[in-house]
Amino acid sequence: MESMHPDVEKVIFSEEDIRGIVKRLGDQITADYAGKDLVLIAVLRGAVVFMGDLMRAIEAPLAIDFMAVSSYGDGAKSSGIVRIVKDLDMDIKGRDVLIVEDILDSGLTLKYLMKNLSHRDPASLEVAAFLWKDVESRTTAITPKYVGAHCPDEFVVGYGLDFAERYRNLPYVGILKPEVYS
Ligand code: IMP
Ligand code: MG
Repeated sequence: MESMHPDVEKVIFSEEDIRGIVKRLGDQITADYAGKDLVLIAVLRGAVVFMGDLMRAIEAPLAIDFMAVSSYGDGAKSSGIVRIVKDLDMDIKGRDVLIVEDILDSGLTLKYLMKNLSHRDPASLEVAAFLWKDVESRTTAITPKYVGAHCPDEFVVGYGLDFAERYRNLPYVGILKPEVYS
């Protein structure tokens, strides 16, 4: 196993796990989007690492674009009210759009984004989430078509996911030691 960052208590998805997950999703998307006009849209910043891997695992013509959003509210919890900070550069009308997300928790941010993008008349609109925290105590506002893995109801970092903008560059997904938060 890769050497662990001193702030990480436990690795839950290793680099090898992630390679397997991305390969499986890439193969599914390659098959499902044959002959389509695929555009991958990543939501900055967490999804950039997954985007970089996933796009190389898809063996079909595709375009990529990015959006940046900021959530209103107390900052700790997703409010579902979202301001678009950076919009797409591309026109998605008539194209097959796949939103690439790092992790889906409440799904409120993504629900808003999907509503916004659907008004632009894409031919299809789906979600690929690397991790899904679909825990029994909460319901997710949307159901992603492609899910990398189910995630325990813990705060995780790495592979694009941050805590206070740190740890995005860890090549695995892990849980931080409790003392890091305090
Ligand atoms: P949602 O709107 O509640 O689904 O929030 C999803 C967003 O919250 C993700 O795109 C992440 O930016 C962030 N997020 C949710 N859970 C985690 C986590 O465990 N670690 C890091 N970021 C998280
Ligand atoms: Mg995010």
